[in-house]
Amino acid sequence: TTTAVGIVGGGPAGLMLSHLLHVAGIESVVVDNRLRSEIEHTHRAGILEHDSVRLLVESGVSDRVLREGREHEGVILRFGGASHRIDFQALAGASTWLYPQTDVFIDLADARARDGGDVRFGVSDTDVVDVTSHRPGILFTDASGAEQEIRCEILVGADGSNSMTRRHIAGQRQYYREYPYAWFGILCEAPPSARELIYTRSERGFALISQRTDGIQRMYFECSPTESVDDWPEDRIWAELQARLAGPDGFSLSEGPIFEKTVLPFRSFVCEPMRHGNLVLAGDAAHTVPPTGAKGLNLALADVAVLADILEQVLVKRDHSALDQYTDRALSRVWKAQHFSYWMTTMLHRGENITEFDLRRQLGELESVVNSEAGSAYLAHGYTGWPSGQ
Ligand code: DHB
Repeated sequence: TTTAVGIVGGGPAGLMLSHLLHVAGIESVVVDNRLRSEIEHTHRAGILEHDSVRLLVESGVSDRVLREGREHEGVILRFGGASHRIDFQALAGASTWLYPQTDVFIDLADARARDGGDVRFGVSDTDVVDVTSHRPGILFTDASGAEQEIRCEILVGADGSNSMTRRHIAGQRQYYREYPYAWFGILCEAPPSARELIYTRSERGFALISQRTDGIQRMYFECSPTESVDDWPEDRIWAELQARLAGPDGFSLSEGPIFEKTVLPFRSFVCEPMRHGNLVLAGDAAHTVPPTGAKGLNLALADVAVLADILEQVLVKRDHSALDQYTDRALSRVWKAQHFSYWMTTMLHRGENITEFDLRRQLGELESVVNSEAGSAYLAHGYTGWPSGQ
């Protein structure tokens, strides 16, 4: 097979890029070693920035997010047993949407199928070759066991944080930071406990009360990176969550049967540059953020919006030098999101060895955020997302 753009990775980044290229009249082929059903059943983040919503709707993927997503005009910061609302609309003139990543993926996969897109799930032994040549390629074994080769003009690595394509970025520098934290994530059958998300800092550690539907809630609490889900029966999980949320205002979570438990790792990572020859990286393949602040998916979508624009210049206007702008245009947003995610994380988590100084400093930091319009506005702007191209 030959095509204009070969894309490794059929998650939101790879499929969104393939869709945007299709809209611009550019052909692509997407390969992914997972099955569509596996990706659909992997629970990920749940919050979209307004620009991510706009991208899905205005590019013609689907308007389901407008019908089934829930607009959130603010978020709750809870500490010292009291809740403080950050009003996104008042401070930043923007909202976020609660719309799970699995639904974003389903909308994108459906849109690619609807538009005749070439997306091959369930492949194996994927490799990329000749990335600095005019005819780079993807080699893989298809779902029926036959060896395949796709030759293209531009190769895109959108293959997630364990990226294989990243290894082909010669001369790369990797920047990273590890954290002594992890999240224990649950899904449960219960009514919502609040109208908006609650990010809580307590002496026992962080907790996040998110949502999925009227009957299903998503919650996370800080745990040790080596925690095992088997050590957490339901009653222990509820006791821990209730203790972290408790306060003099009498706040109490609605409980219900838990049907999913996972421990999520934490890392900040950036690979620079995001391009080598005719290979470019997008999304988690190039950068990972810790989950506090819900930036990962939004950052991946922002990358591919920039990349689709650049690939149109390369492949339609035949200006190959446009590729030189990609790393800088993508990274300015990436580093702002890295800082925001790091900041939200370190302000709200405790880890095992936090000092008495830092525990008190965190409270001073949180007071500065909720009691100052400038502090709240920084959170509101960062959470709802910076303007595109910035
Ligand atoms: C969700 C996940 C996040 O990391 C976050 O910051 C907010 C919400 C979620 O899964 O709903």
